[in-house]
Amino acid sequence: MHRPAITGTGVFTPEATISNAELVAAFNAYADRWNAEHADAIAAGEVEAKEHSSEEFIVKASGIESRHVLDKTGVLDPAVMHPLLRQRSDDEPSVMAEMAVDAARKALAQAGRTAADVDAVICAASNLERAYPAIAIEIQSLLGIKGFAFDMNVACSSATFGIQAAADMIRSGSIRSALVVNPEICSAHLEWRDRDCHFIFGDVATATLIERAEDATGPYFEIRSTRCATEFSNNIRNNNGFLRRSRPDGMADRRDMQFMQNGRKVFKEVLPMVSQHIADHMADDGIAAGDLKRLWLHQANKTMNDFIGRKVLGREPEPGEQPNILQDYANTSSAGSIIAFSKHSSDLNDGDLGIICSFGAGYSVGSVIVQRHG
Ligand code: COA
Repeated sequence: MHRPAITGTGVFTPEATISNAELVAAFNAYADRWNAEHADAIAAGEVEAKEHSSEEFIVKASGIESRHVLDKTGVLDPAVMHPLLRQRSDDEPSVMAEMAVDAARKALAQAGRTAADVDAVICAASNLERAYPAIAIEIQSLLGIKGFAFDMNVACSSATFGIQAAADMIRSGSIRSALVVNPEICSAHLEWRDRDCHFIFGDVATATLIERAEDATGPYFEIRSTRCATEFSNNIRNNNGFLRRSRPDGMADRRDMQFMQNGRKVFKEVLPMVSQHIADHMADDGIAAGDLKRLWLHQANKTMNDFIGRKVLGREPEPGEQPNILQDYANTSSAGSIIAFSKHSSDLNDGDLGIICSFGAGYSVGSVIVQRHG
């Protein structure tokens, strides 16, 4: 059996940002337009007027202050309210592949590796730009990697489930190394016209290189153990899929073709599931709360992360023990915990232990216990 290790990570961050102030101004302009267009129906009590959004609510409910997006012009145009992403021709790289390649190159550079050192690519994300050929195979080809590649989707937990798949293959010896990439174009599956959730998501791509520990050329994080769990729930759901076109009922503008959630229920049901999952995983790995130097959690909601941190550590987390990045990135689905890991792990010392944990739709929860070497 080989010991798998994270030897490099990379983050692709789109240049464009949308502050809460910009977002709320666009939403409120859209709501005013909509209310004017539907004034008669609103007056007759047939439909409800759309209420304004507020910056104060967004920060208080989520901790999000800003988000990066691939296109802000469409999102902020009250007449459009979605990103305007040019349809690529089949001869051009897909958007997801392009983002993932950028993040993957950074991960390879950090590990002191080239494409020739990689045996597999797993593209693990919550939405895929097309059904097939796999985005992962396109990324493999763009990077010039031999071996194999495949896509997988476990929504917000995709990265940790992908890391488990890669770590298990490395442990068993079927591959020496793998790139797990998480290109998340969340702006395209978010309903920017829905006040309850229009502030939640941002775009990003992350990449994690996993190799045999003995192959590492510098400091690395050994993957001591991983754990994945799922429980079916409809509380986070997106019905978009290939059957959409076979149904004759004007699906294009149906609300269930974008991200939908029952946020309150998610909050209540996922918190105990995640806290228990982490506690069980740590106990089985022989790790006590006092042994843990850092938690890199899924970035959906600050209150939720603060609660999980308190439960896991049994006390208030010290500043930096449980780094948040969601104030700048918002929820970036599967990539969130990897951004936090990538930006807040280089200061750990030899022997330090930490846990990467993601959770979300499914429900799904995945945890990875890592130990710094070097
Ligand atoms: N601006 C102003 N007010 C808003 C608003 C907005 N953008 N959106 C909602 N509100 C209002 C609601 O209408 C409601 O008003 P009411 O009390 O008069 O009915 C009030 O604010 C509270 O809304 P609620 O949805 O209950 O807020 P919340 O405190 O539960 O926070 C979430 C909402 C979504 C941020 C929170 O539930 C959450 O983060 N849940 C977990 C989400 C998650 O992890 N999802 C995983 C996705 S991958």
